[in-house]
Amino acid sequence: MSRLAEAFDGWIRSTFVALNTELEELYFAQPDRAGVIGVGDALKARLRDEGHAHVVALLAEGNTGEGFDSAFNLLGNVGLYMGALRRHELTNPDREEKSPFGEASSLALHVGASVGMAPRFATAHLATHNLAVDGIRKSFTSLADEFLFIDENTRGILCIQRAADALSRIVPLGVSSPLAESLLRDATAALEDLAAVNEKLFTRLDVDRFFYCVRPYYKPYRVGRQVWRGANAGDFSGINEVDLLLGLCRANDPYYAQLLMEKMLFMLPGDQARLRDCMMRRSLLDELLAALPTDRDSGWFQTNGAVFLDLCAVFARSAAQHHDQLVARFIDRPAAALPPDRLTGITASGPPIAVLMRSLEVLRDYRCAAPRPDLPTRHADFAALRSALGRG
Ligand code: HEM
Repeated sequence: MSRLAEAFDGWIRSTFVALNTELEELYFAQPDRAGVIGVGDALKARLRDEGHAHVVALLAEGNTGEGFDSAFNLLGNVGLYMGALRRHELTNPDREEKSPFGEASSLALHVGASVGMAPRFATAHLATHNLAVDGIRKSFTSLADEFLFIDENTRGILCIQRAADALSRIVPLGVSSPLAESLLRDATAALEDLAAVNEKLFTRLDVDRFFYCVRPYYKPYRVGRQVWRGANAGDFSGINEVDLLLGLCRANDPYYAQLLMEKMLFMLPGDQARLRDCMMRRSLLDELLAALPTDRDSGWFQTNGAVFLDLCAVFARSAAQHHDQLVARFIDRPAAALPPDRLTGITASGPPIAVLMRSLEVLRDYRCAAPRPDLPTRHADFAALRSALGRG
């Protein structure tokens, strides 16, 4: 890291966090917790101006050629800064045609294009690639609920990555291999851990603190002229590797393929490559269905098929938890209590909450292989497999 990049990183880890936290306490103490404009103006100006001085110096320094890790870290820092400017209403894409922060936009665009990612902070910056210094992870604020959210999201991502890793190791072995059974069990254990993470968030995260003081940092904002959507815990390839390798979602489904395309730049380059690779594989469900007419009574089919069904049931449970518990409790219900003029930017991806809920419901139903006449879920295929395994 260059000396200037190090100084910016130090500021992001200290003064930036202190100013955001102070602002959050001011907003949260008001009768209208969603009120931001006209509150804490001196703190906001300090945040804007101190960050700007770092950005201008870094922009003048240019691309220092210090490699991916350093560029990725800088992209995260300028992104956290711009995300906070958006949260404090110092910029708002609905009011502007281009970002009022020209230098920060230029820096983000330069670094984003050079690492092959969106020019904003991504989930990886706060999750799997959030370097702790003396145990302290990067964050917007020092609120306990933000750390709970960041840590448990990361733990959830790591669980899904373990599952994806186990499933991808079945590909070269084949679903009839005796080793596939152990790998399917490894994936099941990882997803059971995910269910525990979801449960912990559901019971321990404070709804109001999350909704009013954490979530607003994930709003979309402009970089240059273009609006870039906010990060969410799904911006890594593992979840889609699991979807595709199990066979619950298909890369030739236009809805799902569009989702994959849309999230590519929000993922690390390594994840982008893993996802592309997965899109060219035949799923485990399709392998089992292809073997069903000839091998249904064989030992491997009965064993691996049964473990596969158990794994899919655990995955379905975690998908239902995400939608029916986490999104409902922490986003949908609190949003319903707000007046319409307070709802802009409430979803990280930008659409109104009702549209987002419908699209998250589609994903849940694919993952649960739910019977949906309007969607090509794998409900009928699972019924055929269950019946061949005597679980009809
Ligand atoms: C308080 C906890 C959580 C809440 C309120 C929440 C809410 C949301 C919302 C609202 C979205 C849609 C983003 C948007 O476009 O606005 C989303 C996406 C997503 N979240 Fe979460 N989430 C939570 C925790 C988690 C955890 C622990 C995981 C596990 C890694 C996770 C995985 C995902 C995935 C994979 C997506 C992308 C859509 C999909 O493929 O299902 N989330 N989340």
